[in-house]
Amino acid sequence: MDQRRVLTGDRPTGRLHLGHYVGSIANRVKLQEKYRCSFIIADLHMLTTKPDRDSIDEISENARQMTLDYLSCGIDPQKANVFLQSAIPETYELNLIFENMITVPRLVRTPSLKEMAKNAHLDEMPFGLLGYPVLQAADILLPRAHLVPVGKDNVAHVELTREIAKRFNYLYGEVFPVPDFLVGEVPTLVGTDGQAKMSKSLGNAILLSDDPKTVEKKVRSMYTDPNRISADVPGRVEGNPVFIYHDVFNPNKAEVEDLKERYRQGKVGDVEVKEKLSKAINGFLDPIRERRAEFESRKGYVDEVIYEGTLAHRELAKETMKEVRKAMGINSAWNRISRKVEEVRKSRERVQT
Ligand code: TRP
Repeated sequence: MDQRRVLTGDRPTGRLHLGHYVGSIANRVKLQEKYRCSFIIADLHMLTTKPDRDSIDEISENARQMTLDYLSCGIDPQKANVFLQSAIPETYELNLIFENMITVPRLVRTPSLKEMAKNAHLDEMPFGLLGYPVLQAADILLPRAHLVPVGKDNVAHVELTREIAKRFNYLYGEVFPVPDFLVGEVPTLVGTDGQAKMSKSLGNAILLSDDPKTVEKKVRSMYTDPNRISADVPGRVEGNPVFIYHDVFNPNKAEVEDLKERYRQGKVGDVEVKEKLSKAINGFLDPIRERRAEFESRKGYVDEVIYEGTLAHRELAKETMKEVRKAMGINSAWNRISRKVEEVRKSRERVQT
């Protein structure tokens, strides 16, 4: 086992979908065989756009569902820690230190932040949202991770993390590795509506926990070639979401090639293409569903996975913070003061007795 570490994770906004799987989770399942992995349930990041009490109250159940998704995809708690971000106090501490390693104009240039503000219908950028990538840097560098498997939209955040790590090391000495990112085979999966990105909030996602009927329904209403008005008109395969999904999820490559060929010639209807796609996706999801049901039936199991993972991760975080404080000399003032006070108190006691 390579001793280097991997860190990645997701905000607990709900259940995970196919886009998460191909963008990052498939990589995680592979990486856990080789590296020590930590997977974060990033509830503090959720606060940057949803700080209301109702959203906070949903964290617990969402964290459970997300962990069930992880486990059913093959993430193994024997090999990886799944942990809850808000239960690691060192995160808040390192976040504040890192806030001084980066400038506001640099953060303002991060396109993903403006997009998140827009999607959350925020007119002005909250301070916390501007600091989103800084908090993410704290997550990544607390376990001193060297590799971060993420979807494409998070690459810019890992780039910022690299800058922060370098800046810290330059100012205080080598404490952190400069981590690399790793993007999945399909960095961004289109939504069922043909929009650039599958996203639960856009309502164009197929969830890993959807039942077969729901998958059929979602596939039946999928966006295809908009210029193709009937089955006997030649259609476009390139960029067509139905065929993008076939390429990713249908293991029967000969069937996919045949469908593409006939589609191009106007010799197959959307109905057949979609029926075969539903079958492929359901075939892909079946083992995931089976494992989900199995883990769900073990009473208290999921909570225990998060609990143990969090305690283990906390130990790593404590170790790193010790190094950070030492490198920065940030506790030298307090150390001097407490030493002095102890000395003075002792000598007072001596005088009194
Ligand atoms: N930003 C990630 C998302 O889009 C969640 C996240 C928080 C994360 N901290 C992380 C991802 C650290 C990778 C590494 O939901």
